[in-house]
Amino acid sequence: MEQKTKRERVVIGISGASGMAVAHYILKVLREKPEIETHLVVSESARLTIQTELNSSLQELEDLADVVHDIHKMSASIASGSFPVKGMIVVPCSMKTAAGIAGGYTDNLLLRAADCMIKERRRLVLVVRECPFSPIHLRNLTFLAECGVDILPMVMTFYNGPQTIEDMVIHIASKALERLGIDSGSYRRWGDTIQEGLA
Ligand SMILES: Cc1cc2nc3c(=O)[nH]c(=O)nc-3n(C[C@H](O)[C@H](O)[C@H](O)COP(=O)(O)O)c2cc1C
Repeated sequence: MEQKTKRERVVIGISGASGMAVAHYILKVLREKPEIETHLVVSESARLTIQTELNSSLQELEDLADVVHDIHKMSASIASGSFPVKGMIVVPCSMKTAAGIAGGYTDNLLLRAADCMIKERRRLVLVVRECPFSPIHLRNLTFLAECGVDILPMVMTFYNGPQTIEDMVIHIASKALERLGIDSGSYRRWGDTIQEGLA
């Protein structure tokens, strides 16, 4: 009998914060991994931020995913905890979406899918972006971290010697993927080549 290879599912949620280049890079990496089935859900506000920040259209992002879900379709597969998925990355994650997840206020499909990750004890990574953080943001993020959610702020890294913005994008995207055990193939880690030259 022919053996079917089972693909692991990863949900990517894109909300309306700044940092669309990181979402774009993550989708490009996942596209190259035939063993992974990508489910994409994009918030209404994200559409505007994508237009503002990317040379690529929303359609180009959607074309990188295997399955694209309508943010309003609460009957979608990813709205149920019984739908097996490896984990979810919300990238970028706005403070509104972080608040919705922290409050269990699941009034769109992205929030519901994230809620399922927490209730099913699956990996949820929030690539959050705001500057500065208010006490409200920090409380929500602390609470989410206490719930086992990975809070991965979109912060700059310098120890890896980035030369371009793309280098910075690759670094943060690689760190987010690593939380799900996925190797981007382009991650410059401390201890690989970076340390060379230091006493
Ligand atoms: C160009 C642009 C950049 C934005 N950047 C951020 C940001 O970095 N962080 C944030 O929390 N909100 C940011 N916002 C505001 C969110 O888009 C807004 O709060 C929205 O309601 C979030 O909704 P969503 O979480 O459903 O996508 C930005 C808005 C625009 C138009």
